[in-house]
Amino acid sequence: MHAGRWIRVAHRVSAVVLAIFLATHLLNHVAGLWGVAAHLAFMDEARLVYRSPALEPMLLAAALVQIVTGVEQVRAGWGTRRGFWQRTQVVSGLYLAFFLANHAFWVLVARSSYGLDSNFYLAATFLTIAPLPILFAPYYAMGVFALFAHLACAAHFRIQGRTGDRVGQAFFAGGAVLAGVIVAVFMGAFYDIHLPPAYRALVEPFL
Ligand code: HEM
Repeated sequence: MHAGRWIRVAHRVSAVVLAIFLATHLLNHVAGLWGVAAHLAFMDEARLVYRSPALEPMLLAAALVQIVTGVEQVRAGWGTRRGFWQRTQVVSGLYLAFFLANHAFWVLVARSSYGLDSNFYLAATFLTIAPLPILFAPYYAMGVFALFAHLACAAHFRIQGRTGDRVGQAFFAGGAVLAGVIVAVFMGAFYDIHLPPAYRALVEPFL
């Protein structure tokens, strides 16, 4: 099989592994609408699966394969992409590569180097203590939106005709709403968030 085809197959296979985790992950954040306790309880259950010694390395490997094969496809097709859908696929893919690498890395650092539980409060730290939300609200919102924009492009290219366009547009709209809701949850839009001191201590020396 041609190398380019291997890369596309690896991108799709790792996308399936990631998609199963991300559906759970984003649902977990939506559960935050019902309070911090609901978010923590959901995560405790979900972690039994995605943090199990057999599955977590597979998830992190899928993230790595996704990033490497995505960036390689952008490189191989550089300068040839035309039109809204092709360009959006590249821009959303590049942001996702940056976000996924950065986000997963800092979650692992918080856990291993700072001994913090990387739960609701970790994300809320960066979304409640001023002036951090100025940077982190767009950072997180664009992570969620880029994911849905990327799925919108995949739907557009794989589903023929106007149905593909409509499914793509639905992904854009759904992604924008979900990004806004999730970031609002962690910013404390629906209830007061009382950060434990250990999480404040993570960022306060830098402010
Ligand atoms: C506002 C949106 C998001 C927030 C607040 C958030 C927050 C978190 C938190 C708190 C963890 C630690 C989970 C744990 O310790 O069990 C985590 C892990 C992770 N997140 Fe997100 N996340 C968001 C969106 C995303 C998106 C869009 C992606 C992918 C594109 C993503 C990919 C991951 C990955 C790969 C991990 C590592 C899982 C692990 O091995 O523990 N997240 N995220």
